[in-house]
Amino acid sequence: MSFNPFKERGIPAEKQLRPWSELNVKPYDKNEVHPYTKARIILMNGVEVEGAIFSHQFARNLDDPELKKQLALTRRAEQQQQKAINWLSPGDETPLETTIGYEQVAVDLTAFLSANVPDPYVKQVFDFGLLEDFDHLYRYSNLLQMTEGIKSEKMLGKFTEVTPGRPTIKEHRHPFDDVRKHVDRKKADPLTNLFILTLLAGEQQTMNFYMNLGNTFKEQLGRGLYQEIAMIEEQHVTQYESLLDPTTSWIENALLHEYNECWLYWSFMEQEKDAKIKPIWELHLNMELTHLQTVAEIARKMGVEPEQLVPASLPKPLEFKSQIDYVRGILAEQVTWNACETQIGPPEKLPENSRYKATQDLLNAKGAPSEEVINMNRSKSGKEYRCELKGEHPVRELRSK
Ligand SMILES: [Fe+2]
Ligand SMILES: [Fe+2]
Ligand SMILES: [Fe+2]
Ligand SMILES: [Fe+2]
Repeated sequence: MSFNPFKERGIPAEKQLRPWSELNVKPYDKNEVHPYTKARIILMNGVEVEGAIFSHQFARNLDDPELKKQLALTRRAEQQQQKAINWLSPGDETPLETTIGYEQVAVDLTAFLSANVPDPYVKQVFDFGLLEDFDHLYRYSNLLQMTEGIKSEKMLGKFTEVTPGRPTIKEHRHPFDDVRKHVDRKKADPLTNLFILTLLAGEQQTMNFYMNLGNTFKEQLGRGLYQEIAMIEEQHVTQYESLLDPTTSWIENALLHEYNECWLYWSFMEQEKDAKIKPIWELHLNMELTHLQTVAEIARKMGVEPEQLVPASLPKPLEFKSQIDYVRGILAEQVTWNACETQIGPPEKLPENSRYKATQDLLNAKGAPSEEVINMNRSKSGKEYRCELKGEHPVRELRSK
């Protein structure tokens, strides 16, 4: 069904602020929530955080008091949306349990985007990141079993496998090798731009979460694992943001952000089965319509035609669904691949890269927490934790011994 966000009626800006009583939502029950309801919550929290921070950056680079006021007004609503969403996470959910949710989002979101993105280079970059976050899920799952005695499959709900990806220890590369080629927004399919923006918001939130909450972990090894993976999320944010077309103006970028929020809330409103959560997606969609239409009007006055930037009717919805077969296919083909400058591929097809080895030697000089956590769980639980739902690992060298 086609949905034109420029035409649908939204909630007027001055009616968007909610009282505290409404904002302090009742959290979900961590034992009952559907993994993909949680995934939608995690992603939309990241998207709202990006929305608020982007708007602050825009305001800091803007010499126009009227537009600054407009940004402040919309941003207040974005901030409330973020609070309503993030406060759905209950207080009895530990940061490590939430972390499992974050990496499940990274895996199943990246796989969906990768399988559907029109641009082949962007697909290559997504697949590259996919195998790294997939490995994070395995490392954190072992930490979870070892420290809290919980199997992550309880949270993942048999939608996502837990087994090694590209080993985290090998993901540490020189910063120059994280920067990719950017898309040409005028030639790129609009879907490509929305996909990049969405994944970037998710990865940035993961980076923020680990950098702020990794230090709340008690055991030294877990603290180290958060540090190590937080640094990979820094690499991921560098990688994904470099895909964006840097010639996009601030106002065009604001428009893209609001359009993306409309598209995501609309996607999730359609899919959400949880009767307590669905009305939140619907309410927020109705707010976003006004955000989008307000920016569109300002953009037109500045000579930017919104419909030339984004399609009048929303593209097909983003979906959270099990991606086991897709991930297995990419694992089998690309687990050994590396990056050099903007190229990604099997090591033998990449240029000679001494800075990769130098970075590896420096950072992994005394081992790495991501390896220690597996060894330690093996000695504590008898074997490492995996949840392979469709047979043994597709890569012979990564099968359990
Ligand atoms: Fe928003
Ligand atoms: Fe990750
Ligand atoms: Fe990541
Ligand atoms: Fe918005």
